[in-house]
Amino acid sequence: MSTSRGKTVHGAAANAGHRVLAPDDAEVEAYLEVALDAPPPERPAVDRSGAATDTVLVLDFGSQTAQLIARRVRELNVYSELVPFDTPWPEIERMKPRGLILSGGPASVYDKGAPKPDPRIWQGGVPILGICYGLQLMAHELGGDVVPFDHREYGPATVSITADDGLLRGLAREEPVWMNHGDSIITPPPGFEALARTSSTPYAGLADRERNLYGIQFHPEVVHTPSGRAVLRNFVRDICGARPTWTAAHFVDNAVADIRARVGDGKVICALSGGVDSAVAATLVHRAVGDQLTCIYVDHGLMRKRESELLRETFAQNLGMKLVMVDARDRFLARLAGVEEPEEKRRRIGDEFIRVFEEEAAHIGPIDFLTQGTLYPDVIESTAPETKAAQKIKTHHNVGGLPADLRFKLIEPLRYLFKDEVRSVGSELGLPEQMLLRQPFPGPGLAIRIIGEVTAERLDTLREADWIVIDEIKAAGLYRNLWQSFAILTPIRSVGVMGDGRTYANVVAIRAVTSEDGMTADWAKLPYDVLGKMSSRIVNEVPGVNRVVYDISSKPPATIEWE
Ligand code: XMP
Repeated sequence: MSTSRGKTVHGAAANAGHRVLAPDDAEVEAYLEVALDAPPPERPAVDRSGAATDTVLVLDFGSQTAQLIARRVRELNVYSELVPFDTPWPEIERMKPRGLILSGGPASVYDKGAPKPDPRIWQGGVPILGICYGLQLMAHELGGDVVPFDHREYGPATVSITADDGLLRGLAREEPVWMNHGDSIITPPPGFEALARTSSTPYAGLADRERNLYGIQFHPEVVHTPSGRAVLRNFVRDICGARPTWTAAHFVDNAVADIRARVGDGKVICALSGGVDSAVAATLVHRAVGDQLTCIYVDHGLMRKRESELLRETFAQNLGMKLVMVDARDRFLARLAGVEEPEEKRRRIGDEFIRVFEEEAAHIGPIDFLTQGTLYPDVIESTAPETKAAQKIKTHHNVGGLPADLRFKLIEPLRYLFKDEVRSVGSELGLPEQMLLRQPFPGPGLAIRIIGEVTAERLDTLREADWIVIDEIKAAGLYRNLWQSFAILTPIRSVGVMGDGRTYANVVAIRAVTSEDGMTADWAKLPYDVLGKMSSRIVNEVPGVNRVVYDISSKPPATIEWE
């Protein structure tokens, strides 16, 4: 982490205005992680609650969709994990995989330094499925002939299935698929037969059934390959014989047992942020060790309306957790007084958060463990730079460290889960939908949606306007289709008329975007009547606002947040 500090993933200086995807409560995690940075927090080497279940490993050769392969396998209720492409065979063997999938990747097998796996995988007796580059690698390494194409085949294609048993069982004769490759196999390795072809390649699918080695040129993990799921299912369930035991209920049982064993009679704390991740992590730990867990919620006053009440209701009243709610609103306001620069706001909020957290933790007495809702995409050691997103956001926070006597061991029960799995686990644990299905919300909260200085009055104005936006979006049934929807309080005042009088009041902007991951986003084409309702309600119900505008910029070049 230290080498990437101060830089975004794009290599730009961290404060150059690039911000990155944040899980909804990445921020709080980030503050703590940065504060814990030296010496590094103690993390158990292996803490994967899935190890006891049947596993399929994905060897990551740098494809942008490598993570997606693991997700697709997990959707078949089989645990899957990404490992670096060059993981030594003994290490792979130790994880006892039922199968291996070799991902695609940007390289050509002929590139100097092309990524290659430990050659012992071919003789290991574990079924292998090579996808795209993974297939070419398999052909090349096992004695076939791979040649560079004169053009890259990219996009939709049709494959003709020539052997519809085994890997391609149940597929039609002709199937639409997604291709992305620059090399092609002209002679398969000894022992391999063709399973499928396209107009440009006679070996779009290969199998050596004897050795359980399979490969396909197309990408089964993307939605543009409608039968992709069936192909993965054939491989994972039939060829590998993996049992479908990866379920939320199973995960909860294992995780609870693991946490209990690790914590013993130790004391645990957790910083609740209002986001999904810390909520689910805390609930799991609570299920395991009950009152040995204390949750701390720092109310920095930058939250949306009714946020703190929802938290109290859910965790303290309904789940019976020990919850310390710290009213730090005045402290944060004082730290933000006079500050207009966005990065300075972020820095001060992060720093103050750590200070408050530290003081509260000290009141609780000696603490052994800190629970964090770190997710799998945050910890994947990947060859693809964009999966390092989580690290990037952490580089953003120049917060002070925790004092040496406040050192915890970390419990990260979600560190092998994807976001959608966290939601299923939360639902399995009985957390309300309202808590689980929420749009991302940045850690610095409303402070970066008030352009210019943050004051108590401006916070109140924005909170009311934001409430109306969310309320109307929900009423129109659009909440879950949007990545984010919210209000911004601009520093502009404009002239209006109300009744007989002239007004000179604030302009509120509405922002609603669709996005896959927050890295790019489109402004949402909201229906005019929804926009109209929001506008008239805001002007009528929120004192001090007389004009509403809609932000029609996409990212890039604009960012999602205004600051
Ligand atoms: P931008 O504005 O960079 O936002 O397009 C991308 C995503 O990141 C969230 N975001 C933040 N999250 N701390 C966070 O925890 C931050 O400082 C921060 N800035 C932006 C933003 O809400 C969007 O989902």
